[in-house]
Amino acid sequence: MLKSDLTARKAAGDKLVMLTCYDYTFAKLLNDTSVDLLLVGDSLGMVVYGAADTRDVRMTDMARHTQAVARGNTTARIVADLPAGAFDTAAEAVANGRALIAAGAHAVKIEGGRDVVPLVDALIGDGIDVVGHVGLTPQTAEKYTVQGRDPQTADRILADARALAAAGVCAIVLEMIPQALAQRVTAAVDVPTIGIGAGPDTDGQVLVIYDMLGLFRDFKPKFVKRYADLGAALQTAVQRYCDEVRAGVFPDADHSYR
Ligand code: KIV
Repeated sequence: MLKSDLTARKAAGDKLVMLTCYDYTFAKLLNDTSVDLLLVGDSLGMVVYGAADTRDVRMTDMARHTQAVARGNTTARIVADLPAGAFDTAAEAVANGRALIAAGAHAVKIEGGRDVVPLVDALIGDGIDVVGHVGLTPQTAEKYTVQGRDPQTADRILADARALAAAGVCAIVLEMIPQALAQRVTAAVDVPTIGIGAGPDTDGQVLVIYDMLGLFRDFKPKFVKRYADLGAALQTAVQRYCDEVRAGVFPDADHSYR
């Protein structure tokens, strides 16, 4: 069960590494890395489909992309987002959670705090592992800004995380909150916290893979570190291909049949 593994990793002080992943080819490449968790995030609405936010992602998108990632993955645990509108009732949350598990996910992620605890109860009651997500929750956020700078919001986020942990989630994503608050939340719960824009003191980190590889360039939040510039590498390769086709250099004998 994912929960006991992840809780043991926290107790041992092992940092968890999570990355988003949306397709078969990336999932296969990631098998040869030590990434622990692949998140089929609803961020795919933005970085794959070009939407302004994550709100128009549907269960059909999530199930299809989860299936593609599961086909390529042999080494990591897969977490799939329940998209906006997929958990209006406990029955819907369970039906959609089951669909994501059937598509190959090991757990589902749900955005929200104490408001989603009854849904978390229903999912866990159905045998589905759940990851929580507090702080900035893009499915409902009006603006993508740091959450919990004022004491009331900080206390609310802490209480939400405590309630999710008590309900039995196996990890909690903390998005865009101050480092000191992330430290408080991490100390207050026995399940791992996985930060994105939450500083270094969480039990793990997650980034959107298109951001950290320099592929998504529409905007770059402060918390994103680019570990490669695959966007530039892609453009250089494609321009070389264009030039070679136009110059009659490609295809050459090595790439033609006789
Ligand atoms: O959808 C997503 O990629 C996420 C991460 C930002 C945590 O929820």
